Amino acid sequence: MYFKYLDFPEYTQDVQDRFVAYLKTAPDIYHRRLGVSLMLLGKERIEERFPEIRDLFKPYNLVPEKYMVFVVWKPTDCGIHADDWPQVARINLPVLNCQGTRTLFYGDHEMITVDRPGGSKVHLAKRQNLAPVEAANSNRPLLLKVQTLHKVDLPQHNPVPRITLSISFEVDPAYLFDVL
Ligand SMILES: [Fe+2]
Repeated sequence: MYFKYLDFPEYTQDVQDRFVAYLKTAPDIYHRRLGVSLMLLGKERIEERFPEIRDLFKPYNLVPEKYMVFVVWKPTDCGIHADDWPQVARINLPVLNCQGTRTLFYGDHEMITVDRPGGSKVHLAKRQNLAPVEAANSNRPLLLKVQTLHKVDLPQHNPVPRITLSISFEVDPAYLFDVL
């Protein structure tokens, strides 16, 4: 299993709307001007403005380490990839236009590592015509294995940008796969 649905009733539509309004004040991020999908946000500012997001994870004893947004404007913005990431799992929250979109998982296949603008790396599937083995509805909070090949499925006429908030923690949340 590569993902698990989580429930955060305190993550309301109002919080999402305020988060979108906040992102619009950072046009480079909202409009994806650097050409990358996954972008790091300033932790202090996020926790100052959205303490309720930080506090969502307290029942699991998880302390957020990094807040990132994943912004997709067109279906080709996200190919089949594995994150170059030191932990197995992160938690994603839907932010905008996630209804109708999915996160697809592909299992183990050969990968190549490429540099991305901004200095980070990503592992791409050598073959991009793979068949997914699992599919998650991106409109729900998700625990997901980011080191496994995955991609965002954005249907052609879905409203855009499609944005998720991806959060990492001081302790790898992968243990939740076993306890939930
Ligand atoms: Fe990813």
